[in-house]
Amino acid sequence: MIVLGIESSCDETSAAVVRDGRECLSDVIASQIEIHRRFGGVVPEIAGRNHLLAVIPAVDEALRKAGVKKEELDAVAVTYGAGLIGCLLVGVSAAKAIAYALGIPLVKVNHIQGHIAANFIAFPELEPPLLSLVASGGHTSIVSVEDYNTYVPVSATLDDAIGESFDKVARILGLPYPGGPEIDKRAKRGSANIKFCPNLHVRGDLSYTFSGLKTAVVNYVHNLKQRGEEIPVDDVCASFTAEAVGYTVDTFIRCAEERGVKRLVLAGGVAANSYLRSLLAAECEKRGFELFVPPPSLCTDNAAMIAARGSFALKDGKDIAGLDLNARSVI
Ligand code: KG4
Ligand code: ZN
Repeated sequence: MIVLGIESSCDETSAAVVRDGRECLSDVIASQIEIHRRFGGVVPEIAGRNHLLAVIPAVDEALRKAGVKKEELDAVAVTYGAGLIGCLLVGVSAAKAIAYALGIPLVKVNHIQGHIAANFIAFPELEPPLLSLVASGGHTSIVSVEDYNTYVPVSATLDDAIGESFDKVARILGLPYPGGPEIDKRAKRGSANIKFCPNLHVRGDLSYTFSGLKTAVVNYVHNLKQRGEEIPVDDVCASFTAEAVGYTVDTFIRCAEERGVKRLVLAGGVAANSYLRSLLAAECEKRGFELFVPPPSLCTDNAAMIAARGSFALKDGKDIAGLDLNARSVI
């Protein structure tokens, strides 16, 4: 089964060809990072217009790199949400047109489920059931994957996503967009000697909240600026990372223990964070949990993960969409 995937939910236009949900034949990513950097973040209208320019060339390149003719495709899988509506609409419209022209099924893919499915490409032997943490610019969610097509949301953030808080903290520190990788680099040089939010687990349940931590960092930096004092950027990065990641990992591990699940996977752009990867690996090792973490290229937005998720759905006749499929900013 050969599936073309299309992803355009934020600032990456991506097209990929995947065989049997597991084998990535091509994964073309046209990143808009340089375009949005001068604004310090993604400008939705500009992102949508650039997706429009990039989507068909990305599809052509994905087919060429995979050595697959469009007539050989069995289906088109596309991210229909969650994401920026004007951006999603470009991918959805392109996917509909291709599916209609080729007379093949159109499969709608939930972006969060797509992130998780990246693990099925990275680890061809991996099978559900498993518990996954999706840590990205738009989401911080724990999802229980009960079988290949049953994804049950367990917990999510009440406010900001973890990646969003990385990006906001980076911005206040004057670091370039996207802030996550910059903070990751700086944190390695700094020391985690500043306490921002003493108790992030204040609610005592499995939900996440990052806005308090973000605000504490912003206030700390503003206070130093007002007093004309130098900002210890590397220490702020290390301290913020320690709190944000420590809290994220604690909650995820607690969730796994409560549910008695021993197979864990990580997904989403923030899964590229070196401290998150190492802390989670250490905590899993202590408890004898299996942990799967995809390579960074499959953690950030890409269409291979969308094609993978779509392939498993197609196999069971699930999530087949009509040409009336619409994009959704929230799912
Ligand atoms: O999954 P993704 O590509 O897009 C969304 O679906 O949101 O995630 C992008 C997010 C951004 O917030 C970016 O700063 C963050 O992932 N990110 C990182 C790292 N690499 C990317 N955050 C922390 N450390 C990193 N190394
Ligand atoms: Zn994403």
